[in-house]
Amino acid sequence: MTESLTIRRPDDWHLHFRDDEMMRAVVPYTARQFARAIVMPNLSPPVTTAAAAAAYRDRILAAVPEGTDFTPLMTCYLTDATNAADLVQGHADGVFTAAKLYPANATTNSAHGVTDIANIESVLERMAEAGVPLCVHGEVTESEIDVFDREAVFIERILAPLVERLPELKVIFEHITTEDAVQFVDAAGDNVGATITPQHLHINRNAILVGGINPHAYCLPVAKREKHRLALRKAATSGSAKYFLGTDSAPHARGAKESSCGCAGIFNAPYALESYLTVFEEEGAIDRFEAFASENGPRFYGLALNETQVTLEKREITVEDEIDALGTPVVPFHAGETLRWVLR
Ligand code: NCD
Ligand code: ZN
Repeated sequence: MTESLTIRRPDDWHLHFRDDEMMRAVVPYTARQFARAIVMPNLSPPVTTAAAAAAYRDRILAAVPEGTDFTPLMTCYLTDATNAADLVQGHADGVFTAAKLYPANATTNSAHGVTDIANIESVLERMAEAGVPLCVHGEVTESEIDVFDREAVFIERILAPLVERLPELKVIFEHITTEDAVQFVDAAGDNVGATITPQHLHINRNAILVGGINPHAYCLPVAKREKHRLALRKAATSGSAKYFLGTDSAPHARGAKESSCGCAGIFNAPYALESYLTVFEEEGAIDRFEAFASENGPRFYGLALNETQVTLEKREITVEDEIDALGTPVVPFHAGETLRWVLR
């Protein structure tokens, strides 16, 4: 008999769907794997109002295949000019699940992000009062800070003081990439959680730079050295309720990655569960996968757990070299590699 694992249906707590054709192409992959996803608002222009988020949610829902149960959870892109009343009302109305802090110019489509956290202090206070969670892209952007140090410096300069100032605010430190982040999250209160991507569990920075430059292993925050990857694997599989699944699946056209100025972002949606479960198996922690994938996230956000289940079977699957996103070629994470688990 094939070995299999049946768990409560998982959710993705950090995801990029894009818009238009690309969105229509990628939504089915995520809807097949996950019941819900926290949808990032870094469109061009960004999703900054409840009205824009409701319209985007409806476009996503229209792209969900017939018969698939999937709920997009929308986020508000914070800017220096965010209207706190619209954000809090949008949250009360069920349009916004959270708000997203992008430091200006930290990553793809973040030019409209916050230029100085002091500019949104009153918004953050309102969020803490109203119970609106804050999703954080945790990197400083100062040009003199080395790209591999930007997360650690963000913790020291921005995140630690923020958590101290507003201990009531729920903070999700997203796509963490360092041992420093793990130590910070472990030591913080229950109001601080973190998502971890599959790529940061699988690869270190050698994947980008050794044997020729590989743009398909490049995302932000950039993968760090091996000791950090090992710390992330330990955190994800530790059983701590503070860590949960967030793929950061971020599709870019092949040509936009294989370019003289290649975009940051890895498209991992098609085999996300397979990829994570491979890591949990390698770490001898299959029994902890359900909590990471399906329980810690909704509990942190204060949402109901999913009632249905999914089954993964232990058999090999080779990932395609390229996926056709309705006419646009996109290279998926693990392209050409073999994974040992398959979602039934
Ligand atoms: C994301 C994207 O492409 O939108 N890119 C990435 O490298 N992760 C943005 C982000 O989450 O930083
Ligand atoms: Zn992201």
